[in-house]
Amino acid sequence: MDNNQPLLKVENLQVSYRSGKSYNNVVKGVSFDLGRERLGIVGESGSGKSTIGRALLKLLPTAKIEADRMDFSGTDLLAASERQMLTIRGRRISMILQDPKFSLNPVHPVGDQIAEAYRVHYSASAAVAKQKTLDMLEAVQIRDPERVYGLYPHEVSGGMGQRIMIAMMLIPEPQIIIADEPTSALDVTVRMQVLNILNELVTNKGIGLIMISHDLNLVRNFCDRVLVMRHGEVVEERAARDMKNCTHPYTKGLLAAQPHIGGNRQPLPVLNRQPQALSPQETSV
Ligand SMILES: Nc1ncnc2c1ncn2[C@@H]1O[C@H](COP(=O)(O)OP(=O)(O)OP(=O)(O)O)[C@@H](O)[C@H]1O
Ligand SMILES: [Mg+2]
Repeated sequence: MDNNQPLLKVENLQVSYRSGKSYNNVVKGVSFDLGRERLGIVGESGSGKSTIGRALLKLLPTAKIEADRMDFSGTDLLAASERQMLTIRGRRISMILQDPKFSLNPVHPVGDQIAEAYRVHYSASAAVAKQKTLDMLEAVQIRDPERVYGLYPHEVSGGMGQRIMIAMMLIPEPQIIIADEPTSALDVTVRMQVLNILNELVTNKGIGLIMISHDLNLVRNFCDRVLVMRHGEVVEERAARDMKNCTHPYTKGLLAAQPHIGGNRQPLPVLNRQPQALSPQETSV
């Protein structure tokens, strides 16, 4: 495949959740491309970030997903059957979720679960899958892979659990990783390790990474490009290094609200509530 072609092209994505007899539109015409880069999606809680991630994998059974285009490396995701999606989900596009405790099966050793994630997609012997798993555990900086392989999910710490999840998502070698708040449950040291792992995948393996977070500071320091979302819409799209030149009042408000270590200790500003920064519902009240 041409390395300069975007991996993903999304145009005018709309997602609505069914509520009773009507639909509640929570993603309202979002468009973006993803190359072999780190794309950040930031925005307040409820702005639709996770919904976009799940819509790309069509993991929203109760929602209506519409778009002018939702292409992944030449595959039309909107038209793809559930059977086709099974060959894409996990194998070619994978999603790292916030809380590993919900995603790991409590009654199986973590190593077996990672090996299984490999064998679902590749026909490999148990011995080969185990070796791959041990290599992968090492790659996510788990010091004692043999021992950790046999642990149950309740026996691993939060940070280790997160790295185990990452190993599980990475073992099929996906081309796109959607990381939904992958580090918000982690302490600073483990967070840096996880970010380093993700960073290496983009730089060395040429994957595309979508990093979803409410932490603008994290995203602008880590990503190449940032989409700022509000009420289901992208209100600003910018190169991360150019974030200081943002123009939308909401983004400006977010940036101004970032605390600076060593800066003067003024109270944090209140977000700008002028009409441009508000949703239609808010302006009508
Ligand atoms: N399964 C669902 N059924 C109905 N409504 C949903 C569902 N999932 C999310 N929503 C609603 O859709 C909107 C967007 O939710 P989403 O989870 O995408 O937000 P988010 O930006 O990821 O927020 P957070 O930062 O809190 O994770 C919210 O108003 C939420 O209540
Ligand atoms: Mg979310």
